[in-house]
Amino acid sequence: MCGIVGITVKEKNKLKDKSLGKTLASLLKMLEYRGYDSVGIAVISDGNIIIRKARGKIDEVSSKVIFSEIDGLTGIGHTRWATHGPPSDENAHPHTDCKGTLALVHNGIIKNFYIIKKDLQKKGHSFKSETDTEVMAHLIEDKLYKSNSKVFLETLKEALDEIEGSYAFAIIYKNEPNRIYFAKKLSPLIIGVGKDVNLVASDIPAVLSYTNHIIPLRDGEYGWITPNEIVIKYGDEIVDFTSRIKTIDWNVENVSKAGYPHFMLKEIYEQPLSLRETFFGLQSDPNIERITERLVDSEKIYITGAGTSFHAGLVFRYFLSKLGGRSSFPFISSEYSQVSEEIGEKDILVAISQSGETIDTLTAVRSFKINGSGIVSISNVLESAIPRESNYAIYMRAGPEIGVAATKTYLTQVLTLTYIAIQYAHIAGRLTDSEYRDHLNILSKASEITESSIRISEPLVKMYAKDLKSSKSMYILGRGLGSILALEAALKVKEIDYIHAEAYPAGESKHGPIALVEPGFPVFFIFTLNHRKELIGNIKEMRSREGIIYVSTPTADMIRENTLDSRILNIASYHSEILEPYAHIPAYQLLSYYISVENGHDPDKPRNLAKTVTVE
Ligand code: AGP
Repeated sequence: MCGIVGITVKEKNKLKDKSLGKTLASLLKMLEYRGYDSVGIAVISDGNIIIRKARGKIDEVSSKVIFSEIDGLTGIGHTRWATHGPPSDENAHPHTDCKGTLALVHNGIIKNFYIIKKDLQKKGHSFKSETDTEVMAHLIEDKLYKSNSKVFLETLKEALDEIEGSYAFAIIYKNEPNRIYFAKKLSPLIIGVGKDVNLVASDIPAVLSYTNHIIPLRDGEYGWITPNEIVIKYGDEIVDFTSRIKTIDWNVENVSKAGYPHFMLKEIYEQPLSLRETFFGLQSDPNIERITERLVDSEKIYITGAGTSFHAGLVFRYFLSKLGGRSSFPFISSEYSQVSEEIGEKDILVAISQSGETIDTLTAVRSFKINGSGIVSISNVLESAIPRESNYAIYMRAGPEIGVAATKTYLTQVLTLTYIAIQYAHIAGRLTDSEYRDHLNILSKASEITESSIRISEPLVKMYAKDLKSSKSMYILGRGLGSILALEAALKVKEIDYIHAEAYPAGESKHGPIALVEPGFPVFFIFTLNHRKELIGNIKEMRSREGIIYVSTPTADMIRENTLDSRILNIASYHSEILEPYAHIPAYQLLSYYISVENGHDPDKPRNLAKTVTVE
């Protein structure tokens, strides 16, 4: 998984930074969330291709190899998350051919690279890296020089026909100094359409400082850009893309840190706004009624996603059952083969993915489609792969999320899915018109509950983070909906703080996990409206083993009366179960954030993780 970018400008004054090298580094910063183990750029300068690259994050590499001293009008860049070949200077992109006539950057995996590499080596090509990507540079070189008459685009197509796997490529060629060639299959790629400047990039944030007009490319498309021209081909046909140009209402301000020390904190604080916009968007989405009717008419409803998106799917299952009286079948997307045999044409899959590009979820969607199932997708990224392959797509309006940990996309997913569950209950006749309006009215408070929970919990969380920063392990427990929210709370602590945090239904303690509890072991309880008596019992059970108890609750008095020395994590008050995610979850997002900061980690870029997982 990687981020790629390319920019070509008519004149130097079109660049927003003082050199092309510096410009590419700034554009790559917007994609750093996609990978950050090595970085590199290639530009065409005075008829030559100059490549600078190294292992490390963008800022380190940028000052080490001095990107800013490289100038030109056309260049490409790459930020890497290693898959083939460990992070190293040699394995960093861009890669080039034997003679240095072209340079390319790649996001994806060339599955048959080894066979192609062996063949090219026999023909005398010499390789410098262990990557799958480098074969593409040599493959094009090989084909290009077999026949002098061939134009580069034809050669590119021939090479693309030979490789298997996934790719987004940006390529520069010495003989055509103002062009960037591109190609896309399975990995995301967009074109940024400007005036006297055009760009290609893995994601929208990278082009926003130049344009808010974009063309999301489709699988199988390839072509080239110059500062004033765009040519897209599919097979041998030229694609008419004029009606596909979209205007994006995000701006550079949206995707920069806006004064916050980290994107994660900024995104936690953005939740009230994102929730409001998502709620308004749902109210005006003409698809919702059709989707709900399709769900009501379906034989079985399956729900899938990975990580946080799966956790949002479990909240959907909960409310679909509680409000709509409907059973559904959630599964983690990489485990689709456990259920795909049983699918029929009357079934429907609800696929949840903030990025819309997670390969496990995309594969599950494809497998369900083959078996005839209808697909409803919930995503935050317009025109990404999963919504494009669905029968119905619902977009959250969370805005771009840069921090690797999902925060605002989780709560907006939960809101979107709860909204659908309420619609379902109404259409299925389980809620009267007035109950339906009441439920929507309650859900419309999600934004203010989130805002007040952030405000109320933050000072306490900062304090508790100091106590917890050296913990090796903790439990986060709840009952009913609380046990589902606990899964997401624990994932945040694991991924950002590198602390083993385990979530399970509190009633399970006595069946095994309580054996681990010794004096000082931290145990969190998500104290929900339902099951209070049982939860008090569970708190006492843990306290009697001398665990240190933390309780997220709006009703501190009740906890103190019953379990004297629990540490209270105050959150916003609420009177309906529908609002519990927005009351409890911000406190745990903040907890994971502050523990990470206390330990001197970077919460935006947790080790071993990338924002979007496009490899199996
Ligand atoms: C969440 O904090 C994680 N980074 C991860 O679990 C994520 O939710 C998962 O990879 C799914 O991503 P998606 O929503 O883009 O499909």
